[in-house]
Amino acid sequence: MRNEAAGPRRPVVAQESPTWHRRYLLDLDELTSQEILLLLDTAEAMREVLSREVPRVPALRGVTVVNLFYEPSTRTRASFELAAKALGADVVNITAEQSSVKKGESLLDTVRTIEALGAKVLVLRHWQSGAPYLVARYTRMAVVNAGDGWHAHPTQALLDLYTMRRHLGELKGRKVVIVGDILHSRVARSNIWGLSALGAHVVLCGPPPFLPAGWRPNEGIGGSEGIDLPRVQIETGLDQALEGAEVVMALRLQRERMQGAMAPSMREYVRLYQIDERRLSRAKPGALVMHPGPVNEGIELAPAVARSAQSVIDEQVTNGVAVRMAVLYLLAGREE
Ligand code: CP
Repeated sequence: MRNEAAGPRRPVVAQESPTWHRRYLLDLDELTSQEILLLLDTAEAMREVLSREVPRVPALRGVTVVNLFYEPSTRTRASFELAAKALGADVVNITAEQSSVKKGESLLDTVRTIEALGAKVLVLRHWQSGAPYLVARYTRMAVVNAGDGWHAHPTQALLDLYTMRRHLGELKGRKVVIVGDILHSRVARSNIWGLSALGAHVVLCGPPPFLPAGWRPNEGIGGSEGIDLPRVQIETGLDQALEGAEVVMALRLQRERMQGAMAPSMREYVRLYQIDERRLSRAKPGALVMHPGPVNEGIELAPAVARSAQSVIDEQVTNGVAVRMAVLYLLAGREE
């Protein structure tokens, strides 16, 4: 698939690993901890590229990357575009709204068309969980899941891990609390896999209707109990969950999900689960405050917390470019 003459070159990463052979990045559950660390180390090299006066390398010159988005996005779409351009790739952006999808073209026909146009990498966001997995079965392009339904958002989790690692170093044993609507959050799910692979202590906290069915509060699940998830701790009380946390990650409250009979009202949610200064004081001093965005001002985070020195929300966005460069570089330049 790779054109050696015009395809990816590999001079930008100091420590090249021979171990990356994957054509797809669909979620972090399929990656080993070594592969996750390779991605994060490669992102570090990409950060150096981005700090140069001319932040570009020709590593993917001659490669076409297509961003195909069936859902709105600001951060993910823009950072994939910037990442591809920084690597010298050609980039095409397609949104479902402005494509032949509106005329009834199926997902697979759209993908076949993109492949026939010569694209080598497909970055896909879709409202349907599993869509990138289906596509990966029917194309020779490298496929990156840029968020599918409630299921997974692996590049968001990678940039979250990268941001944590830059501040904390090794993540083994670090207490990371994820707060909010866990049930509907692809960001939470991918983070659970990634954080667990790197040995972090993951605590999930939210109102019971926003925890997956059958998860009992205040106890660990997964791992040895045979549930197909890494071992995580569940808490419904925020104060208790935050005790000693080194990272506090608030999730976006998806207003469209707040309609079930058991769902809390917005006012109730803010009262019980908003991260404000008092609650944050239970975490370790200097604990990182994170959010995948877009933030609902004054809902998940008190404004003073969102804009505090502890907040790394803007840094997460910035790091998304280097992380997505690493993803594109490794997928497009993999050994056949
Ligand atoms: N975090 C995230 O996926 O944001 P966008 O929807 O703006 O891409």
